Amino acid sequence: MEKDIQSVLLTEEQIQNKVKELAETLSREYAGKDPVFVGVLKGVVMFFADMMKRINIPCQMDFMWISSYSGTESSGNMVVRKDVSEDLKGRHVVILEDIFDTGNSLDYTYRHLLSKEPASLKICTLLDKPERRNPRVTLQADYVGFTIPNAFVVGYGLDYNEHYRNLPYVGILSPKIYE
Ligand code: IMP
Ligand code: MG
Repeated sequence: MEKDIQSVLLTEEQIQNKVKELAETLSREYAGKDPVFVGVLKGVVMFFADMMKRINIPCQMDFMWISSYSGTESSGNMVVRKDVSEDLKGRHVVILEDIFDTGNSLDYTYRHLLSKEPASLKICTLLDKPERRNPRVTLQADYVGFTIPNAFVVGYGLDYNEHYRNLPYVGILSPKIYE
């Protein structure tokens, strides 16, 4: 597995320091609001769990699972495979995501959750790859862990063909794996 990684982009330590910082910010900004943190499966699992352990205010957790109909890249043809289970009407909701890439899936998720009439809806993403953004997506993340260059990354929840999610760091996948 490790031999497929060209280089480590973010070490475990860098990620954990950032998680601590983001969790402190969210704990401060959402104090007294009993927010609902919605994780978008599956890529967010590591980030979600690490964030929740450091958020020190009353809050709730929920999950969504969306995917595109076909292909490896998100096409914009999205489908909700699993919806949230809480009633989000009037609630303060924060979407947690692993990566903001073309933005197609976050855009879809955002609209989907907005239709549930939350009191507020914000986005917290561990990684942002702005160079890849679909020009039609005008959405912006409210909280960003790391802005990264345009490379395909895996680990810490992120996959290539469902593998590498269990790496504790974020690495750049060797192009020979997918070329
Ligand atoms: P979007 O292109 O912003 O819609 O991102 C859709 C999904 O593609 C993300 O939630 C990730 O699961 C996946 N993705 C995008 N970029 C990468 C990457 O560099 N590595 C692994 N998965 C990625
Ligand atoms: Mg994925």
